Amino acid sequence: MILPIAAIVLSYLLGSISFSVLLAKAIRGIDIRQHGSGNAGATNTLRILGKGPAILVLLLDVLKGIAAVWIGVWLSEGSEWIPAICGIAAIAGHNWPLYFRFRGGKGIATAIGVLATLAFVPAVSAGIFAILSIVLTRYVSLGSLIFVALTPIFILVFPGYSMNLFWGSLIICLFAFWRHRTNIAKLARGQENKLGANKPGGG
Ligand code: G3P
Repeated sequence: MILPIAAIVLSYLLGSISFSVLLAKAIRGIDIRQHGSGNAGATNTLRILGKGPAILVLLLDVLKGIAAVWIGVWLSEGSEWIPAICGIAAIAGHNWPLYFRFRGGKGIATAIGVLATLAFVPAVSAGIFAILSIVLTRYVSLGSLIFVALTPIFILVFPGYSMNLFWGSLIICLFAFWRHRTNIAKLARGQENKLGANKPGGG
């Protein structure tokens, strides 16, 4: 029992490393949470710092999710639940980071890493719809929500995935919708930020 608990704690601590906060501090000496949307994530990094740093943040945040699931696999003594809980813990760390006064991001990049590791085909299929919606509408938040909403549905529809994975992915989906509640309100009012609408360097 001690190893699975250690895995979950370790995943939360890993998820708490907020790469957008660290990179914005290192490159521009700013707190990214006081600029743009105020979110500590890749989309806001793109807005404030540009493409290169945003791609780096995206990759590192995705890697946190992949690593957390693997930590769960190694330390879970064969349980199917623990890797999913480790993934959720990493997303929680990203959203409410221990090292940054519990003010983090919305967890989508980390969720991509978690869901692609737990259920590759459903996550990639959902990702295709998400990317299409971002290309068509230029709303990253809408694409993010489509990704987390479609993955549990595809886990149910595609053969070979357990109900445990479905429930795990549904929790991730609910987390993401909760963290995107201001984006959802802005989308409804037609006031959401579009990709490319702000030039990097703005506040
Ligand atoms: O993953 C975050 C994205 O969906 C929205 O980010 O900065 O536009 O609130 P942002």
